[in-house]
Amino acid sequence: MKLLTLDDLETKGKTVFLRVDMNCPIDPKTMEIIETSRIRESTESLRDLRESKVVIASHQGRVGNKDYTGMEKHAKVLEKILDRPIKYVQDIIGSEAQREIKNLKDGEILLLDNLRLCAEENYEFTPDEASKTIMVTRLSKLFDLCVLDSFPSSHRAHPSIVGFSHVLPSCAGRLVEREVRKLDEIMTVAKAPHVVVLGGSKVMDRLEAIKTLIQSGRANQVLLTGVIANVFMRAQGRIRFPLDIKREEEVISKAHLLIGEYPDVFSTPVDIAIERNGKRVEMDVREIVTGDRILDLGPKTVEHYMKSIRGAGTVFISGPAGFFENDQFKFGTESLLRGVADSFATTIVSGGHLTAALKRYGLEEKIHHISTAGGALVLYLTGVKLPMIQSLEEAAQRYRSK
Ligand code: 3PG
Repeated sequence: MKLLTLDDLETKGKTVFLRVDMNCPIDPKTMEIIETSRIRESTESLRDLRESKVVIASHQGRVGNKDYTGMEKHAKVLEKILDRPIKYVQDIIGSEAQREIKNLKDGEILLLDNLRLCAEENYEFTPDEASKTIMVTRLSKLFDLCVLDSFPSSHRAHPSIVGFSHVLPSCAGRLVEREVRKLDEIMTVAKAPHVVVLGGSKVMDRLEAIKTLIQSGRANQVLLTGVIANVFMRAQGRIRFPLDIKREEEVISKAHLLIGEYPDVFSTPVDIAIERNGKRVEMDVREIVTGDRILDLGPKTVEHYMKSIRGAGTVFISGPAGFFENDQFKFGTESLLRGVADSFATTIVSGGHLTAALKRYGLEEKIHHISTAGGALVLYLTGVKLPMIQSLEEAAQRYRSK
């Protein structure tokens, strides 16, 4: 492996900056964490850092979005999972955080507040620029080592991802190590046709990545679900009402261009399900009217998508196909996941929602790789070098040439 891991660096007695990704789904009404698998995944490196002073840092949500909140609840969940006390400070780079970091003893863990409260963490930098941000200059002198373990945010060139690792001895955490090893293994044996089942809510990110995925030969067919499917159906003129999403016109015109460029690659739903008077109602896409909320795929769409999945050499599925948390609307997500699990293809399932769904349907054992990442994974599969991986490779080179 090109990257250093926790086996390469002496961690005992050291003060360690551990960047994880605890960005979890949040209930917008109660602001409670709905699904905790990313917090659980973050604990793997902590086991190997039990004789260090560990400062954990993560973001949660995006500024202005409904899932943007502090990390206090994450600290409680972590405490429960590990069954040991976790210190939490409502600060990131200020004097309170610095005092808490300096006061840590071996074996103690401190969680900082949401990194995106710090303006710099919402911008992308080169590693050199990132190392000169206030965040990195103030905090890096308090640390001996940097461990990067936030694979789901490895596509972001933020100070916490490329800055500390530019100035401190750095290695990959256990999650990044496992994801990179497994994905590289899969990518060397993956066979065509490559079928991508693509949903998820970060539409602009997905649209930008999908073109590269098609161009790199990693997406021969793209079966669309969720909000992205709605965007493409709008671009095709098959639904006509506003979708109420950010930068709506821009994403629709991007989708329009993609369909024009790759007319045989994309598949969109022919039938869907909505809710009327508390009941599931299935209909042809042409029958949907303004105000209907699309909550699931219909049976004809699922059957059509299953044909592609059955014939695939590799299947990558990202994002649920509907509101599967409600049993009335789990049909699309459950059927597609069962189809993927039973196929002869090499299979990759991505993101927290689908991981939760796999667990719910008892299908985890039948999937080749379940990744914690969403957008980062789509980009990783294109073969693009992600900023975190690049930064870790450079750190490894510096260490080996000493
Ligand atoms: C994710 O959930 O994909 C990561 O946590 C990155 O979040 P972001 O897309 O808001 O940067």
